[in-house]
Order: sequence, then C-alpha cells, then structure tokens
Amino acid sequence: METKLLSVSQTDLAAEIIKNGGLVAMPTETVYGLAADALNGKAVADIFKAKGRPMDNPLIVHISGLSQIKCLVREFPEKARILAEKFWPGPLTIILPKSELIPDEVSAGLDTVAVRFPSNETARKLISASCPLAAPSANLSGSPSPTTAKHVMDDMNGRIDAVIDGGECTVGVESTVITLATEPPRLLRPGGITLEQLRDAIGEVVLDDAVMNPLKSGEQAASPGMKYKHYSPKADIILLRGKSDAFIKYVNSHNDEDTAALCYDEETESLEVPFISIGREDDYSEQANRLFSALRMADERHFKVVYAHCPKPEGIGLAVYNRIIRAAGFEVKELEE
Ligand code: TXA
Ligand code: MG
Repeated sequence: METKLLSVSQTDLAAEIIKNGGLVAMPTETVYGLAADALNGKAVADIFKAKGRPMDNPLIVHISGLSQIKCLVREFPEKARILAEKFWPGPLTIILPKSELIPDEVSAGLDTVAVRFPSNETARKLISASCPLAAPSANLSGSPSPTTAKHVMDDMNGRIDAVIDGGECTVGVESTVITLATEPPRLLRPGGITLEQLRDAIGEVVLDDAVMNPLKSGEQAASPGMKYKHYSPKADIILLRGKSDAFIKYVNSHNDEDTAALCYDEETESLEVPFISIGREDDYSEQANRLFSALRMADERHFKVVYAHCPKPEGIGLAVYNRIIRAAGFEVKELEE
C-alpha cells in the first residue's frame, strides 16, 4: 500500500479515506494518532494489524464536540462534566462505562470506553468532517510515540493509507488517562494535565500503582497499555538518579564506544560523551515535548547504551518519569553524592 503524505489543507480527502474504512495518521496536541472510524469494527481491527498491537489493549475514541459523547457512554457523571468543562479540548482522556455502539475491537472486551476531545485544530476538523475516531499513538507497537509526521512515516510507511503532516506536536507525551468508572477516580497514565490539576478540579484522585511501578506477576492492569514494555528505543536505557554532578561524573567514567547521555541543557558542557538534551532541568513541559524525539534520535545515531538522568516525578515531570522508567525496564541506579 502506498501511504499518502497529506497537508493540513487536505483533511477532506483524509475524511473520505476514514469514511471508506481506511487508516489515517493525524496530528494531535499530544502525539500523532492512527485514526479509523471508531464505530467500524473492521477498520479498528486494521489499526491493530498496522501497529502490531496486542488486541487486548483498548483504544481511545476522539471526539470534536461534547454532543458526540452521549452515544458513546452509558453515563456521564458530574465529575466527567467538571473535567470536560475544565480540560477539554485538551490532553485528557476520560474512561466511562461504554454504550452498546462501541465495537469490542475498541474496548478490547472491557465494559468501558476511553474518550478524548483533542485541541489540535486539524484533528478536530478531521473528526468533524468524518466521525468519532479510534486512535492509538501512530507508532509501531513498543516504539516511542511519534511527535512529527516523519516519525510516523518512519514506522508506518506502506502500512496505512495516509498521514496528515501537521508539524510538531506541542505537548509531546500522550494524554493523561483518568478512569471515572471506579470511585474514587484513578489516574492510569500521567500526561499534559497533571495529578494536581485533576485533584483541584474533582477532589480525590488515586495514583494507580502501575504509573510508577512494574505490575506484580499475576496482577491485572487497570489500563492494559501499562503492562507492555513501551517507549523503547533499541538502545539500552540506563536510568541514573542523583544530582547533576554525580550524573556527569558517572557518565564520564563510563565513556565507552556507542555510549551517549540523555541529559539536561545545564549538563551538556561538562559531559565527555555524545549527548542528547531534553531541555532545562526545571522545565518539565519542554522535557515532555522533547523526550520521544530524543529516544528516536538515540536509535538514529546508533547508540547502544544511553545513560539517562532520571527526571523528577512532579507536575508534567511525572509523565516524563512514567515514560522513561518504562523505556529503562523499571530499573533506576541510585548515584552516590
Ligand atoms: O494522547 C493520546 O492519548 C494519544 C493521542 C493519539 O490521542 N493516544 C494514545 O493512545 O496514546 P494509546 O492507544 O497509545 O494509549 C491509550 C492508553 C493505553 O494505555 C490503553 O490501555 C488505555 O489508554 N486505555 C484505553 N481504553 C481504556 C479503557 N477502556 N480502560 C483502561 N485503559 C484504557
Ligand atoms: Mg501508544
């Protein structure tokens, strides 16, 4: 299959492809999504094939207006209304009991559906010109999520009908996922909307164990996506926790061939190995914005070992931490002062 590269002025063509049961990668404010008609089970099944995604990992349904949610869910509780009002359109996904219209392929057999109203102009135009869209991140399963159309092409060329090039994603990590299908609500995946913002809006929100820790054997994931090794470049990511001086000292003394550092801007001058910076140490939004590009760049430059400075798990930094700790297989080496 030839994958067409479309411009943002070609959303009507993209909408036609979707309505005919095809697959289109679209920009969103978080990461690129691989979209299909959410109510067409066969088209949704094709998403799983194109990505090589396990069928037990459910998809998010994207809407372009609140009125569309009514036929997708059985209940729309008060807390959902508050979250929608505060954070939609934007990088928040809300899980609710699903309606009968949701195909099993979307919900992967669960009784719930994840819904998101993205703020990206092109995504909203595409949904409005077609229908609610089921869309996981548009990467091959297991690799870092794409934040540019080029990343999508690198993974998906020949596997999908089209990619709309909407430039670079602004948030850079996937949406925050909260479930309101349990009481109290649980944060299943941290993202651009922080835990603090959610608690300010609706009170108690529990941080699901799987955000920070690996699942214990036999334990069931509240969010199936959390059980897979994710966000991994081919290089070995070794996560180091400690102050900058200790990080620099450790990395400089492990200056082997094909080794690099994933670091902060302030550290670059003192490092004696090749480095990829993800921004200033106190700028969590910039770190989120650059993380996935940095992981992909590590592979493009053929590094075999990447020493990464462990980010602080606060604010949007929690999202950066959650992704990088998965890329590192949950191992963190504590550095001595
Ligand atoms: O920002 C985003 O959320 C991007 C863009 C494209 O919108 N999408 C995205 O989708 O990251 P995906 O499929 O890569 O991640 C969806 C996550 C997975 O961890 C999945 O297991 C979880 O949401 N999820 C989806 N539906 C769920 C449900 N009904 N219950 C629990 N978890 C669910
Ligand atoms: Mg994904």
